[in-house]
Amino acid sequence: MAADVPDGYDVLVLGGGSGGYACALRSAQLGLRVALIERDKLGGTCLHRGCIPTKALLHAAEVADTARDGARFGVNSSVASIDMPAVLRYQQGVVSRLHKGLQGLVSAATIDYFPGVGEVTSPTTIRLGDTTLTGRNLVLATGSRARSLPGLEIGGRVLTSDEALTLDVVPGSVIVLGGGVIGVEFASVFRSFGASVTIVEALPRLVPAEEESISKALERAFRKRGIVSRTGARFAGVTQDESGVTVSLEDGSTLSAEFLLVAVGRGPVSEGMGFESAGVVTDRGFVPTDDRRRTNVPGVYAVGDLVPGLQLAHRGFAHGIFVAEEIAGLAPEPVLDRNIPKVTYCDPEIASVGLTEAAARAAYGEVRSYEYNLGGNGKSQILGTAGFVTVVRAVDGPVVGIHMIGARMGEQIGEAQLVVGWDAMPEDVAPLLHAHPTQNEALGEAHLALAGKPLHAHA
Ligand code: NAI
Repeated sequence: MAADVPDGYDVLVLGGGSGGYACALRSAQLGLRVALIERDKLGGTCLHRGCIPTKALLHAAEVADTARDGARFGVNSSVASIDMPAVLRYQQGVVSRLHKGLQGLVSAATIDYFPGVGEVTSPTTIRLGDTTLTGRNLVLATGSRARSLPGLEIGGRVLTSDEALTLDVVPGSVIVLGGGVIGVEFASVFRSFGASVTIVEALPRLVPAEEESISKALERAFRKRGIVSRTGARFAGVTQDESGVTVSLEDGSTLSAEFLLVAVGRGPVSEGMGFESAGVVTDRGFVPTDDRRRTNVPGVYAVGDLVPGLQLAHRGFAHGIFVAEEIAGLAPEPVLDRNIPKVTYCDPEIASVGLTEAAARAAYGEVRSYEYNLGGNGKSQILGTAGFVTVVRAVDGPVVGIHMIGARMGEQIGEAQLVVGWDAMPEDVAPLLHAHPTQNEALGEAHLALAGKPLHAHA
């Protein structure tokens, strides 16, 4: 860490999460003088309270399911117990190794790292204790936090994902409020660890942002796993005592469990940061930007979860890199939400990129889609998973959306995003080989079918 640069930095980055540290690293690579300010731990939500620790829990959950289901494959095994403190040690081991690696990356780069609480005091200055840092560009990367509903207080047995990630007991029962991404991932973990789980979702289906057929398939798979989904159910209130919670719904029914997990979305972290001192316009706390991540104030950018839209770490990375290159004058291609790949790591996994069939129809008029069932895919049968891959194309045009569900389907998102991102025609993809036997063949088969030459599928 160096002292302030007398004639000012090229870039001041406020927030060291996915968006902020990516921006700082790329700025340094490009020879810009950059300061990175972080009040907590480098890595932000993704590394410490989001992606990484939850996926570690989900992996432990998969190990439990594999042990429980061993007999199905002729391997007699069972789950003796779930040792939550040991699960948490494994989870924290993963987090701390990655944290050390990230700290190493940042300290090896020519980044001036300032731990502490930064406050924006003008479009070119951030105050940090007694120090004022100046820079010709300001990048706001302060991220998001779990939000709740009006009158729904977090505490005791009412948890957000932050508390659920550190729960050192396996609950007997959990109500999950919100059937979005966080809701279904935690429902999946808790069920695998042996809890009885009920999801309460206000909209008519789970994962409402996904293709409708995916929601249906997930609800079916969850039902088979014993997870109860109460869709179209609106939360009215909750009470708690030392043994549990009672949730009441607007239809007058009540549900009881040991814990309530609130997963109704994430809000921006922007209060008390001085954004208004720089004249930055906010919208319910989020910072709107144009496609070049410019706020309403020249020289002030915003990246990641703070910007309305998809709240995903890889979007934050891409925003951060984009802004660094923009400041360096490289005129990079904008990062648009439309083709950002999404993976939800519940069991079964969901992966998607591009437009749903309905959105594609609205954008292109007529579309063609093909659903390839994993029932015809050798590797999926070996794993014993159900699911499908749906590929949507504009008629006689490129593939505009791919939607997948089934065990391990998250791993297929790489090819799916290349196809959609490169505007590939099914006819372009059809001649490319997909190794046998892999789940990846399901994607190949769907493209073969859309190109009019199905192999392991009916025409
Ligand atoms: P979300 O927006 O995905 O889901 C929230 C759900 O709560 C919605 O389905 C909504 O209809 C429901 N809801 C809202 N108010 C309700 C009420 N009063 N009663 C019942 N249901 C209600 O938000 P979530 O799951 O909290 O996740 C936050 C963000 O974090 C998302 O943008 C998500 O993409 C991101 N994330 C991504 C992950 C991944 O990529 N694997 C993992 C976890 C989170």
